[in-house]
Amino acid sequence: MSKSPAFESRMEKIVSLAKRRGFIFQSSEIYGGIGGFWDYGPLGAELKRNLRDTWWRAMTRDRDDVVGLDATIIMHPSIWKASGHVDTFADLMRECTITNKRVRADHVEPQSGSVMRYSGVNLVSHVRSQHINRNITALMKQGEHIESFRKRVRQLVLDKLGKPTRDESPFENTARAAFPPEEIELLGEERIEVVENSVDYHPETGGLLSEARPFNLMLKTYIGPTATEDDVAYLRPETAQAIFAQFKNVCDSSRVKVPFGIGQIGKAFRNEVTPKNFTFRSREFEQMELEFFIRPDEAVQLIRGSVAAWSEDADLSIPQPNWGWELWHRYWVAQRTAYYASIGLGPDVLDYFWQTKADLAHYARACVDILFKFPFGTEELEGIAARGSFDLTQHQTHSGKQLEYFDEELKTASDKLSPEQKAAFIEESYARRSKPETTREEIVAVTEKLFKGLYIPHVIEPSAGLDRLALAILANSFDEEEVTDEKGKTETRTVLHFHPRIAPIKAGIFPLLKNKPELVAKAREIVALLRPHMAVFYDETGAIGRRYRRQDEAGTPFGITIDFDTLGEEKPEFKDTVTLRERDSMQQRRIPISELLPFLLGKIL
Ligand code: GAP
Repeated sequence: MSKSPAFESRMEKIVSLAKRRGFIFQSSEIYGGIGGFWDYGPLGAELKRNLRDTWWRAMTRDRDDVVGLDATIIMHPSIWKASGHVDTFADLMRECTITNKRVRADHVEPQSGSVMRYSGVNLVSHVRSQHINRNITALMKQGEHIESFRKRVRQLVLDKLGKPTRDESPFENTARAAFPPEEIELLGEERIEVVENSVDYHPETGGLLSEARPFNLMLKTYIGPTATEDDVAYLRPETAQAIFAQFKNVCDSSRVKVPFGIGQIGKAFRNEVTPKNFTFRSREFEQMELEFFIRPDEAVQLIRGSVAAWSEDADLSIPQPNWGWELWHRYWVAQRTAYYASIGLGPDVLDYFWQTKADLAHYARACVDILFKFPFGTEELEGIAARGSFDLTQHQTHSGKQLEYFDEELKTASDKLSPEQKAAFIEESYARRSKPETTREEIVAVTEKLFKGLYIPHVIEPSAGLDRLALAILANSFDEEEVTDEKGKTETRTVLHFHPRIAPIKAGIFPLLKNKPELVAKAREIVALLRPHMAVFYDETGAIGRRYRRQDEAGTPFGITIDFDTLGEEKPEFKDTVTLRERDSMQQRRIPISELLPFLLGKIL
């Protein structure tokens, strides 16, 4: 996706603010950083915690049909065999034949230029190719001897035509910052051909790319002291599988009844080939996933006599007992959309991508991605998939444990059917089978189970990324406004318009003067009043306008100033009132201290 300069500079400003104000730092920055890993600073940690809390509340606590789970990151490796991750969780990758640097096959942007063959290098003063120079410098930094590099450099390299100027190219800037200006002479060069829009050269190094090969994205580790292949375990690439693996325990221990869901928030790890766009695609990230278990449509049919079909004007507000998978899927899309609106992401910044039949995984019936309009393009925030009974069936097969659910209502409804009605139901199910290859015997086996009240529940899975959401919230909230002060001076106000519910700090508390003990004491009293209920920030240094600006940048929705009127010395009618400033409108008004807590709680809960 092409990026406009305005969008790029907006993104740069967001990244810079995130570091300057302590939202997001590069992991291990003092050692040069580590690609695809990010740390959250004081404000970022609060923001993330608030987002986590809003999800948990909306998806579990505020509902009586969802329970929570907090499972381990490392699980039995067979889980990942059963889920298909060991065999298929891979990206197609190509490798630079000079540096071995990898790139996702579908991420190679077409390039044009002259294909050159270099025949050797020397460490002297003249530099002919920036690409080769950087590769050599990088390799030498890793301790590779120049002689071995001489052999490898007899490769094809693309000298790009029309490559971006240094200032426009993030790679050039990174490379420039990372490597010292070593000087290298190339001993011979030969132009092989001129290519246009070729995807066969590494976008950063220019080196010829190898054939595409699958590269598994799971991060491996070893359990126990021996570290043999028998001890391999994986850091989970998604939180979802733990929910399926613990399905039976949750059913047995929690008196849940289908339809119901299990939600989980936690870390996931993927060895992404090209982590990019700040935290958007990271190697360590947090997911917020719900597996919502529903009756198969055939069970609904047996219990209710029919399955309600989805239509444009379907009422999705309250789930109904005759809903089939399609209405449940639509319901969760609507629920998740409402959730995003509740934290400030309205329809103007969201979009939807409905996967076509050809895009869908073989087991999935439908999948929609909720997209957010990031500065670098409209990209996925959350996926909502109707996964059928695939996952539980896989775990039942691989573990050998029964994961079928007994549905009392289904058994009661089936017991009322005559043998003829049951035979007719089997025929109908066979005629309606979704896959033509399904045999009559398979249909009979499943339907006989249904008559006994048994089935493997089907699943609707809304799966969101917490770090992606935090980035979307930062991008959506960031603003630079021209404002004019009382003296007529115009300046740029940087502000984060966080919804109060998710703002890291809810109120800034400012005594007008720090050297007036009565003002300071009153301000401290207000801190003590509010702190048990919310995050507040006490600030007594600098002009009041500057203190407001500092909190605008942190996204603090309210400022509370304690001034001489609060003390009621000159105007007794204002005693025990404070100035309340609202971040977005910058409007100020007086409010009694006694009303502060209920007012703020009404905004943040
Ligand atoms: N269990 C389904 C699943 O994991 P997914 O689409 O691979 O589906 C779900 O991931 C969500 O997790 C994505 O919509 C995204 O928000 C987040 N996510 C996935 N990979 C990520 C990454 N490398 N960095 C940050 N977030 C990621």
